Formats: sequence, structure tokens, C-alpha cells
Amino acid sequence: MTVTIVGAQLGDEGKGGIVDLFGEPADVVARYQGGDNAGHTVVHEGTEYKLSLIPSGVVRGKIGVLGNGCVVNPRTLFDELDALGERGLEPDVRVARRAHIIFPYHRVLDGIEEDVKSESDQEVGTTGRGIGPTYEDKMGRRGIRAGDLANPEALREQLEYTVPQKRALAEQVYGVSVGEEFDIDALYEEYREYGERLESEGMLVEAGNFLAARLDAGENIVFEGAQGTMIDIDHGNYPYVTSSNPTAGGAAPGTGLSPRVVGDGDVVGIVKAYLSRVGSGPMPTELAGVEGDTPGYEGDADPDDEELAEYIRDAGGEYGTVTGRPRRVGWLDMPILRHATRASGFTGLAVNHIDTLAGLDELFVGHAYEVDGEERLTVPATTERWANCEPVFKEFDPWPEADWNAVASEGYEALPENARTYLEYISDELGVPIYAVGIGPGRDESIVLEHPFE
Ligand code: IMP
Repeated sequence: MTVTIVGAQLGDEGKGGIVDLFGEPADVVARYQGGDNAGHTVVHEGTEYKLSLIPSGVVRGKIGVLGNGCVVNPRTLFDELDALGERGLEPDVRVARRAHIIFPYHRVLDGIEEDVKSESDQEVGTTGRGIGPTYEDKMGRRGIRAGDLANPEALREQLEYTVPQKRALAEQVYGVSVGEEFDIDALYEEYREYGERLESEGMLVEAGNFLAARLDAGENIVFEGAQGTMIDIDHGNYPYVTSSNPTAGGAAPGTGLSPRVVGDGDVVGIVKAYLSRVGSGPMPTELAGVEGDTPGYEGDADPDDEELAEYIRDAGGEYGTVTGRPRRVGWLDMPILRHATRASGFTGLAVNHIDTLAGLDELFVGHAYEVDGEERLTVPATTERWANCEPVFKEFDPWPEADWNAVASEGYEALPENARTYLEYISDELGVPIYAVGIGPGRDESIVLEHPFE
């Protein structure tokens, strides 16, 4: 059986915690896209683990697979593996031979491009991990894959083809002088060793065959989507997107299993009870703003909105796991959730951070948008049109603080009534049942209404 976990908003919905919760009966947790831009936090036996590449399930002894749709930075991979090892874990991580490798020059180019774009206020606000430039090379058929690292001749040949092009791009197009990140010999030596380690530790797999064999043996697999629907390269808010497909469809090409396998299992949309965003781009329900990220924002918001945004940001821990940047926050946006539900075909929802919104004086949801004098229920396809959307708010009665531990042990009916009304509105609007409600960061701080593996 499989369960696919997808971020329904803009990333940072708390997917790690739900993978942890629903992944309990799973044997394998496989990522199908993205790279070390995917900050996720897992709390296990009182210890907090912050990972950016390795699937969170490995903390609990699952096999973690980085599927062929991922881009893998071996430096991060081995740093994270070694750090987990030092904390007494024995992580079992496999890497698809077909997964593309992030090289240091990709990171440099990511930074250069963002700098250049920032001159005309067009920067995406990337995580700077080289994600976009690596996917560019993949699509341009000049990428270097994990399997190539273990083949020194192929690695050398490919570096000799690719690196001079990258150097010319940096130096001649952007006028930036570059260093050892573009040195073929240094790269060859370092990355050949990663290849040896990957091979000698049995980490390289043909992901599709590996996963299919596991399913044939009756094992359970979680497909762990990173980022979220609105930063999907196709269905997100282009160009303020990441360069892969976090939506559920990506799980098939990103692992080597068929859409029938993915569609045969549950697809759980992870929803944060409000909205957060890292980086630039429209956000119609945003409260106040974050300078440098919110387009046109210069710290000039209504002081009440500013205070509320700050309260939610602090209460929800809305600071980037990877970058530490303050996240933009806003009210829940239903057009985003309708868009996500259609694109990924959610069979269930997990709504997180219900506790974060407790005790507010007022509570709103962006039910629809108004644009060009018309009301619409879904997200427009162009960024410009989305930026022109004004939210049509629906007001809800806020719920008070509660003893969340008691609520977690007593279950759904113990939630404050107004919180249940809020959750039922979301579920009814989307026509999707609620599988889980998050009321704190730990695995025990969740209410499970329906377990997709049970
Ligand atoms: P990139 O993935 O580093 O290329 O960044 C592209 C866009 O996706 C930027 O707006 C990032 O802030 C955003 N992004 C990438 N990874 C995450 C994530 O894990 N959570 C939230 N936003 C992300």
C-alpha cells in the first residue's frame, strides 16, 4: 500500500510531522522531488531533528529513499547521515541512480541569478541550494546523476563537458569571477569519493525496481512530497516556484512507479490552519508583510495587522528550517486549497496548527477572491492576475486556548467547538474528509480521525 503526502499550500505545512504520524506502519519513506531545500523537523523521543534532504522517516528506522525526481547534494546527504549517526541512529538511506546531483557550481549560479534578478526586484527568494540550476541541467540533458558518481570515467567526461559551460555562464554572461566551485579536478576528486561511498555502502538503487519489489513483498510506502502546491513548477505561482512537482502526480515519474500505484493509495493534503510563505510572490490573505520578501512592502502596514502577524509567526514558529528567515503569514486561503485538491486529488486532509490560532480576538478565512469585478473560487493561472486578487473574507468565531494534551488524548470531540466548525467548513468546501488534526509539534499532539494505512 502507498500513501502520498502533499503540501496543500506554499510549503511548511508540517508535512514531516504527518509523515511521522501516518508513516508508523510504513517500511519505506520515499521522496520524489526537491533536494536540500526541504527543511523538515521531526521530534522523536523528546529530541528534535532538523533535516533538509533525508526523508524524516529514517529517524524512526524506516528506509529512506531519495527518488530519481530528487536533486541530491552529496555534501548535505553525508553531513546529515553523519550527524544522525553521531546521535546514535543508523539511518538506512538509498539514492536513486537516476537522481541528479547538485554541484557547488549550481549553488553559486543560484546565488548569481538571484542577485541579478534582485536588481529589478524579480528575485524568487530561493533557498540558495542550487535547486533550480540543477533541474535546468537535468532538463537540458547535461546533468550528472548519482549513478555517474560511481563511474569515475563517466564523471570526468561529464564534468569536462559541463563545467566549462557553467564557468563561461558565470564569467562571460554574468561577469562574476569564480573559484574552486568550478574547478574540474577538485570537483572530480571530491565527487568521485562520494560515488565510492554511495556504492560501497550499498546506497545506490534503481529506485523504481527497488520500490516495486518492496510493494510486491507487501510492504507499505509513504511518498513524502516536499514544498507545496503553490510552489509547484507547473501548478504553482510561476516564476515564484521551486523547480519540481510537489503535487501528487510527481510521485510517479519521481520514483519510477506508475500513476496507478500512486492513485491506488491515499493522497493526503497537508494544510496549515493559516497560511505562510517564504520568499516573494503574491499572497492575497497576507497579514502585514516581511521586508525583502513581500512585494512592495516597506514596513508600513497597519500596526494591528503587524502585531497579529508577529503573534502568529512566533506562536507557530514561522521561521525557515533551512534558512531561519521569518516567514510571511496570513489567513487561510480557500482558493489555494481548492486548487491543490483538484491538482492532487486529495482523499484526506491533515490540518495542522489549530493550537496556534487559539486565543485570537478575531479570525478570518479567505473564502474567495474578487478580481476585475468578479468573484472567483480558485487561483488564477498568472502571477499578475493573482496579485490583483482581493480576498473575500469569511469571519469565524475564534476558539480559546485549551489543554491540548487532554484534547490529544480525548480526541476530536474534545476540540473547542469553534475549532470544529472551522475544520468542518474546510472539509465541506473541499469535499474531502479530515484524517488528522495537528495541535502541537509532536507526534502525540495530533488527533487521528482516519489512518490511511489502517
Ligand atoms: P528553491 O526551491 O530554493 O529554488 O526556491 C524556490 C522557491 O521555493 C522560493 O520561494 C523558496 O522560498 C521556496 N521554497 C523552497 N523550498 C521550500 C520549502 O521547503 N518550504 C517553503 N518554501 C520553499
